[in-house]
Amino acid sequence: MANYPTKRFRRLRYNPLVRDMIRETELSKNDLILPLFVVPGKNVKKEIKSMPGNFQMSVDMLVEECKEIASLGIPAIMLFGIPEHKDEVGSEAYSPNGIVQQAIRAIKKNVTNLIVITDVCLCEYTSHGHCGVLNGEEILNDESVSLLAREAISHAEAGADMIAPSDMMDGRIAAIRKSLDYKGFNKIPIMSYAAKFASGYYGPFRDAAESTPAFGDRRSHQMDCANGNEAVREVESDIDEGADMVMVKPAGPYLDILYRVKEKFGLPTAAYQVSGEFAMIKAAGQNGWIDEERVMIESLIAIKRAGADMIITYFAKDVARWLDKTRK
Ligand code: PBG
Ligand code: ZN
Repeated sequence: MANYPTKRFRRLRYNPLVRDMIRETELSKNDLILPLFVVPGKNVKKEIKSMPGNFQMSVDMLVEECKEIASLGIPAIMLFGIPEHKDEVGSEAYSPNGIVQQAIRAIKKNVTNLIVITDVCLCEYTSHGHCGVLNGEEILNDESVSLLAREAISHAEAGADMIAPSDMMDGRIAAIRKSLDYKGFNKIPIMSYAAKFASGYYGPFRDAAESTPAFGDRRSHQMDCANGNEAVREVESDIDEGADMVMVKPAGPYLDILYRVKEKFGLPTAAYQVSGEFAMIKAAGQNGWIDEERVMIESLIAIKRAGADMIITYFAKDVARWLDKTRK
């Protein structure tokens, strides 16, 4: 192996055109999924304080937003609902006239070229803010799984293109797959939140989705941030149960997990750059402490380099515009 001074890495770094030619990882619009929050009412577009540039929107405003998203070339959204009424068992999650179901129908009717992925969980819909039904303070696994399967079917019946269960109950992927197939939705893919960690980075999201648990936390179902091998086993089991795509969440602080999952299974792999990751970059940018655009792109390139095929990110519109601006 030749060494310095004959070997010079910098030779390929002087000319920007050469740098462009040898770049290993590039962002593309096809990588992007934008999360959106739908609320009851009309003409509502309320900015989420801790997530500048992101809004809670009523169905009418959401449809207009989706038209813009599609025209920017972003292929997919991830839909979250904040219901009119919450109750112990999260009834609105699986009601045919629930807020997400209304939103799906309206988007499908009015917007072409946009994939609607729905988040399937109960925490936005339960009065206690937990991801399942309770017995005392315990989240019941199997009872919750049946309700999640009903929620998934109800999203599919409304016209969802893809289902993304985020609850982390055991056995939910198998149950949801079986229910969807039984109802004739065998063509609807499941993107499983397969390795989802109990994370402080979800803080701003819980304001956006009004889903902070009334007591306790999510550590009895979401993963311990210390566990990498267990994450690989979680993903393996979701694949066995029928997941078509798998997700690692959060993204930036869990790049090692992302890398291992992509290397080991090679499935289409998504990463969720969550609300806290977004908020930190935004806040530092707004303070002038970092260059927001540069760190946005760097954070997303890193996620892609680690193995993500798709990134769920609150920056999706900014990235699409950046790609329009910079692409030669
Ligand atoms: C619901 C859900 C959460 C997120 C996605 N789906 C919150 C949670 O588990 O508390 C977090 C997304 C984000 O922080 O951007 N289960
Ligand atoms: Zn949940």
